[in-house]
Amino acid sequence: MKVAIIGTGYVGLPTGVGLAELGNQVTCIDREPSKINALKEGKITLFEEGLEELFHKNVKAGRICFTTSMKDGVENADLVIIAVGTPPHPITKEADMKYIHAAATELAEYLRGYTVIATKSTVPVGTGDDIEMLISKKNPTADFDVVSLPEFLREGFAVYDFFHPDRIVVGANTKRAKEVILELYKPFKGKTNMLFVKRRSSETIKYASNAFLAIKIHYINEMANFCEKAGADVYEVAQGMGADSRIGPKFLNPGPGYGGSCFPKDTNAMAYMGRTNGVDLSLIEAAIKGNDLRKKQMAKRVLNMVATQKTPKIAVLGLSFKGGTDDCRESPAMEILNEILTVPGPKVTVYDPKAMENAKKLLGNKVQYAKDAYEAVKGADVLVILTEWNQFKKLDLEKLAKLMKHKRMVDLRNTFRPEDVKVAGFEYVGVGK
Ligand code: UGA
Repeated sequence: MKVAIIGTGYVGLPTGVGLAELGNQVTCIDREPSKINALKEGKITLFEEGLEELFHKNVKAGRICFTTSMKDGVENADLVIIAVGTPPHPITKEADMKYIHAAATELAEYLRGYTVIATKSTVPVGTGDDIEMLISKKNPTADFDVVSLPEFLREGFAVYDFFHPDRIVVGANTKRAKEVILELYKPFKGKTNMLFVKRRSSETIKYASNAFLAIKIHYINEMANFCEKAGADVYEVAQGMGADSRIGPKFLNPGPGYGGSCFPKDTNAMAYMGRTNGVDLSLIEAAIKGNDLRKKQMAKRVLNMVATQKTPKIAVLGLSFKGGTDDCRESPAMEILNEILTVPGPKVTVYDPKAMENAKKLLGNKVQYAKDAYEAVKGADVLVILTEWNQFKKLDLEKLAKLMKHKRMVDLRNTFRPEDVKVAGFEYVGVGK
């Protein structure tokens, strides 16, 4: 199948490469020439485990190409996938649809023959209808259908998730469009759950799923607070809860709060949609408020550790919003750091295995950058772990302790077992124990 994908970000690029690997002829379109030039030169523009090798393989096989031209990408396509950003509006927090609307309007004039337009971007309920209207207005004779094809890829695991989906949700209102999508996902036939639903249901499923997961994390974080006061261990509690198949063990890891480009944005957008539809979504509103507060509380946890010092040296490990990605957007680490930096005094040195470049864009010269974890902790008064990178678990605690001025650790991802850290001489604060 000939597929055009508009947008080469964290959704568009892995999807494009994945679809090429399945044997489709894929054209990735992006209006940013620097991105397209890099991709044309064989340089991958984002870090995603396993993506680079698949990218090179499919470029070499001639199954994927890159262009800034909407016309070149769209005019021969059977399927056009919209995967552009829907950032939050700075004030209302509703999803900003300007890129979606621009893409729909621009692609309309290049449609030739029957084409399915699919939205993979997370879009407010009713967006399919808007796209339909925009295209028909610009090109009244166009033969097309709009479907909702929500994306459930996790950053850092996008390649794995692409080839092992829990489910594929398709919101299609016509038989013709369903057949095109069935053809696209033929390789997954019998291997995963394929759900065909109304387009508006499909658009809602995406928000409802992300909001539910965000609430689940917020819930376990509240339980972590409770366990700390009640002398319980949140991991044992999560294990006991998760053994109930109705609850399930996943997404019960306590931490500094959820972040990333999806959960904060999508919970806010869903809450906005609730308000505009006159529906009480108080659970989602509570998760948003609780998650914002949590980051402030976590910053206090760090500052309390060094409260007796005027200019404490703080070493921070982990900047991305979770392990396995270089993405710092809405990262709890960034927000906690910014909170710490509002207080006069602390000198902060940071290290992250993949996110240093992205972090520099956000933090500038407010902090110092170390080349590894051991350099970061040299002479530090407290070590703070903010992202759950697997490699931090392998750090030599004795070596860290020797390099530091004061052996103190605030481990907001419970990277280490308190027993091990204490043996190495650390004063230790984690979460939920
Ligand atoms: C999330 C969803 O998991 C994907 O299914 C969805 O496709 C994606 O959003 C999207 O809408 O595009 P992602 O943002 O990559 O994926 O990140 P998650 O792995 O879900 O983690 C989100 C945040 O929750 C991170 O800050 C992570 O550290 C935190 N988290 C996650 C916890 O604090 N505890 C957990 O148990 C799980």
